[in-house]
Amino acid sequence: MRSSVSSVLRYDTVGMSSPRGETAARMIYDHSARLKKAHAAITDQRKRGLIGWMDLPFDAAMGQRVQKMVAATKKFDTLLVLGIGGSDLGARAILQALSVASGKSKATRRVLFAGANTDPDELESIFKTLDWKKTLVNIISKSGDTVEPMSAFLIARERLKKAVGAKFASQIIATTDAQSGTLRAWSEREGYRLLVVPGNVGGRFSVFSDVGLFPAAWDGVPIHELLAGAADQVRSFEKEPPEMQISGQYAALHNEWFSRYRSTIFILMPYVSRLGLFGRWYRQLIAESLGKARNRRGVLVETGATPIAALGATDQHSQIQLYMEGPRDKVMTFVEVESFSSGLKVGKLPGPSEALSRLEGVSLEELIHAERRATAGALTSQRRPNGTIVLPTLDAYHLGALMQLFMIATAYLGEFMDVNAYDQPGVEEGKRRFREWVELRASEDAS
Ligand code: PA5
Repeated sequence: MRSSVSSVLRYDTVGMSSPRGETAARMIYDHSARLKKAHAAITDQRKRGLIGWMDLPFDAAMGQRVQKMVAATKKFDTLLVLGIGGSDLGARAILQALSVASGKSKATRRVLFAGANTDPDELESIFKTLDWKKTLVNIISKSGDTVEPMSAFLIARERLKKAVGAKFASQIIATTDAQSGTLRAWSEREGYRLLVVPGNVGGRFSVFSDVGLFPAAWDGVPIHELLAGAADQVRSFEKEPPEMQISGQYAALHNEWFSRYRSTIFILMPYVSRLGLFGRWYRQLIAESLGKARNRRGVLVETGATPIAALGATDQHSQIQLYMEGPRDKVMTFVEVESFSSGLKVGKLPGPSEALSRLEGVSLEELIHAERRATAGALTSQRRPNGTIVLPTLDAYHLGALMQLFMIATAYLGEFMDVNAYDQPGVEEGKRRFREWVELRASEDAS
């Protein structure tokens, strides 16, 4: 369906019609008043400085700060990024999607991620590959006291210190809150280099702050293009009627299926391997933003959509059976990249084969598009809701646009569901109980 004029992405919604036969366009139109109200509420939150993530793509000083830090640290050959959740998944998604495209030699410079788990074997297997003299450590934690990355950091800090002595602090970049938190205090005490997570930007919305931009820029990703794509989505939000924005359409259709037809499982299935980790970033965004016990008026609602990150064509052979024939509680979104760089074609058949005889010489690009179309068509024929977001190509500009589109869509959905999309009280409760265990362990050790 037609979306905003300033959008370079397309959203094919043919398969999203309702069980009552209403077209997607009709369903979006029926949501007009709610979309308008949600748009006004989000605009108001932005004006009041509550949702800084929408302004990040326009922050020129931030881009310069990041590039300056990249220039100051280019003598190192490895960047070790330590973070979890919103302080981790965005950069991982960007690097997976764009490192191949940047064409940089991986032999001389690399970015490694750790600290998203407390699995000792995993951590050691990464750490033992490092030459600490040539390693730059970027610890990312807004609060500065998240156990998983901070435990990894404390080990990394000791290894750095052992390898390079007193100058170890110059090999640490702390990306954290500008004013408060443990990491902030340690940085000042020990003299680490500093980057910032803005106070009004929550973790899962922080990909276009120093959090996601520094690892991306260090890896050679053109972050100005990433931000340009994101900025265009924000402009679309500002200028286009909400029902013409893809983010508005996605939110309206998902809300309709969620609230009216109890399709509470949102599946994202890109047909491009480089968006595999993007699916995990999306999963956190939807899960933590919308999964809430109480609405904004304090009423117990225990609501939320369950996001699933799938990958086409791979998961056609693991999940599609369920989506075709299982419970009617799911909404699929495919992501299609129109053009791939490689022109790989299927080779010659060494012998006759009934099943594969027509494949010879077919390009893999044609194949993957045909596979997505076949899956979408099959779902539509069974009246199972599915839409496709189409990117002309997977480059920094379009990835930036795609990420911003989903953040805006999540904000719309938060409004429709009347939940605070920016807190995570359920996570905090787990953290609180964990701290209790730490205290108890310490007191047992002392006695
Ligand atoms: O989205 C969020 O707010 C969370 O996922 C956080 O990013 C995650 O808990 C890590 O927090 P911090 O950056 O404070 O270490």
